Order: sequence, then structure tokens, then C-alpha cells
Amino acid sequence: MSQLSNKIKSDFPIFEKSSLVYLDNAATTQKPQSVLDSINSSYTESNANVHRALYALGAKATEKYEGAREKISAFIGANSHKEIIFTSGATESLNLLAYSLGNDINPGDEILISEMEHHSNIIPWQQLAKRTGSRIQYIPITKDGELDLNHSDQLFNSNTKIVSITHISNVLGTVNNIKKISSLANQCGATFIVDGAQGAAHKKIDVKNLGCDFYAFSGHKMLGPTGSGVLWGKYELLEKMDPFMGGGEMIDKVTMTTATWNDTPYKFEAGTPNFIQAIGLGAAVDYLEAIGMNEITNHEEHLTKYCLHQLNKIKNIEIHGSAKSRIGVISFNIKDIHPHDLAQFLNEYNIAIRVGHHCAQPLLSKLNETATARLSTYLYNDEQDIDKLCQALNEIISHFK
Ligand SMILES: Cc1ncc(COP(=O)(O)O)c(C=O)c1O
Repeated sequence: MSQLSNKIKSDFPIFEKSSLVYLDNAATTQKPQSVLDSINSSYTESNANVHRALYALGAKATEKYEGAREKISAFIGANSHKEIIFTSGATESLNLLAYSLGNDINPGDEILISEMEHHSNIIPWQQLAKRTGSRIQYIPITKDGELDLNHSDQLFNSNTKIVSITHISNVLGTVNNIKKISSLANQCGATFIVDGAQGAAHKKIDVKNLGCDFYAFSGHKMLGPTGSGVLWGKYELLEKMDPFMGGGEMIDKVTMTTATWNDTPYKFEAGTPNFIQAIGLGAAVDYLEAIGMNEITNHEEHLTKYCLHQLNKIKNIEIHGSAKSRIGVISFNIKDIHPHDLAQFLNEYNIAIRVGHHCAQPLLSKLNETATARLSTYLYNDEQDIDKLCQALNEIISHFK
């Protein structure tokens, strides 16, 4: 049995103060002391606007901000820190792409996503399709909750200009075969985007090895502060793209009527960036790397197996999705108990899970559900957390009888 969580739970102050069983990590994660310290010391020792101030404090803030960019570049195997754009999260990263890649999209072009996408990877494309007269196509899913690529020759065709797929489903836990989709997207010359909101937190990411053009993720789902996120893109593609937002620091020269842009990646970071959050994300990356991403994945794989085994013993439970490759994001319903009731009763036990449509309404309607209960694990969860959850579920079920 993996003992990882025993070593690390004590690094997270939130667990010191209560017996909280936190199983809503796909929504956001708790923060270790080192990340909290990083935020605190940034505000108390190096708070000045980055890239602008001609005094020592400003230089210190800039150095820390750019240091975080270097760390994140190395963390995901990017070619250079110039390929890292700081955003407020995966949502902003994906919206940036839908806006900036939109100039090359024409009527009749196709944007290929899948039935298991989060709204963040649906709505920006719907808006782009509306603006440009292009069409959205969906890769269907199998009953096991995997991408159904049986008709890939029709889905990936000469009209396909953008393919944007989640690395890991935030409802079913399915880990998609990104390399396979990359080769299909390459064959038809499409730009390939990966929504890594649930990926970068749980797996060692090597963007070059994955074979994508862009990878988007959120810092707060990987121990970092809220308001921190990343868009990685191949430098030559970023160079060709127009900025998403206009404002301070993203320019080179502005006249009354014209403007030219700052270098990549700064042309994509208009206004005062969330630099303290980005520095905090750098501290989260330090923390994750000190443990080791492979160690984290092993721990989570073990815990997912244990969790599925224990959940399957519960009467009248339906677990959605049974993909061969999956992580500890598990959606379920219990017969005759509404998920919202379940969450409220679990709250009495100090157990936090998510219920609802998980910002994936098209997927939920495919599952014939309006809401599911969802537990999602991370490196600090352990078998005791799962046991407490299962015991509470059994007690709630007997209460409802
Ligand atoms: C798969 C997926 N994509 C995108 C997002 C959006 O992330 P954020 O709200 O941090 O921007 C989420 C959030 O849950 C997600 O799970």
C-alpha cells in the first residue's frame, strides 16, 4: 500500500484544523504550507508591479515571476519559457485560443471536440463557430466512457481545422490517448489542443511527447493559488497568433491609430498579471516535484483501485464509466437518493464531494442523468478517507430505506 498521504497530509494546514475528508479535488485542491508561505512572502517582501518598476522591489518581483515561468516550462517539458503564457486558469487559456486562432477559421471549417468535454472546452468553440460560420463536430464516447474513434476517418477530415480534447475527463476519470489523437489531428493538418485541467495535476506531462500544439491547465487544481493558470503553445504558433486581450505591457509601440505587439509570450499577458499567484504556482510545482509526479500517479492509481473496489460493494450504486485507463475521478448515483441530498448528508460527516452536472451537461445528458455525485482524490487522500466515505454512504442509504 502506498503511504504517500501519511507523509504529506501534515503539510496542509487545512487538515490540521479538522477531520475533513476532502474528495473534491477535481474542482480545486488544498494548499500546502509552502505555497501559502510563498504567497505571504511575495506580498510582504516583493510586492511591486512586474516588468515596469525601475526599483529593486520591482526587479525582485519580476525575477520571481519569470522564475516561476522557467519552473513551469521545465515541469511540462516545454522548449523554452517563451512558450509559457500565464492565464487565470484553463478557462482563460482555452478562450484565448478560440479567440486568437479564430482569424484562420472560415465558413465550412470544422472544430472537433468530444462528448466528454467540460463547458470550458465547448462554449468558446460554440462562440467561434457562430462568429465564423464553422461547425462543431463531436467524437462520441463508448458505454465504458472512452472516446469512440471507430469512425475517425469521417471525424478527422480535410475540413477539420481545430481538434480540442480533454486529457482527462472531469466526470468519468477517463485518461484519453492523447498521442493517438495527436497523430489523427496531424494527418488532417489540424491544430491540436489539449485541455489539461485534470491532466497536469495528476500525470507527468511532457508536451513534446504528447504531440499536441497547445496544452491548457489551471494552477488551483494542482496545489497552486486560484487565479493561476497556464497556456503552453509551440513558439512558432504563438508567434503567428494575434493577442487575445489588449492593454498595458502587451504592446511594443502605440500611436493614436496603431499598435505593435510585445514579444511572445508577453503580447498575451495584457494588464497587471496575477504575478503573485503565478509565483505561488511555481511553489506548488516545487512541492509536486519534490515528491515526484510518478510517485503521485502511483499513489493515485492504487487509491482509485481501492476506491472502486469499496464503492462496488455499496448496494444500488451505479458508477459511471469504466475506462481501462483512468484516475480517481469517480461519478456515481445511488438509486432513489438525489445526489444533492447525498452531498448534504455527507457534509454532516465532514466529507466534501461534488454533486451536479460538473460543467459537462452534454456528457450528463448522454449518461441520462441531470446530476451525479462525484468524488475526486489527490495525493493527500488515503484509504481511511475512502473507508469513511463508504461507511457514511452505507449509513445514509439505510436512513433512506
Ligand atoms: C476538464 C476541465 N476543463 C476545464 C476546466 C476549467 O478550469 P478552471 O475553472 O480552473 O478554469 C475544468 C474545471 O473543472 C475541467 O475539469
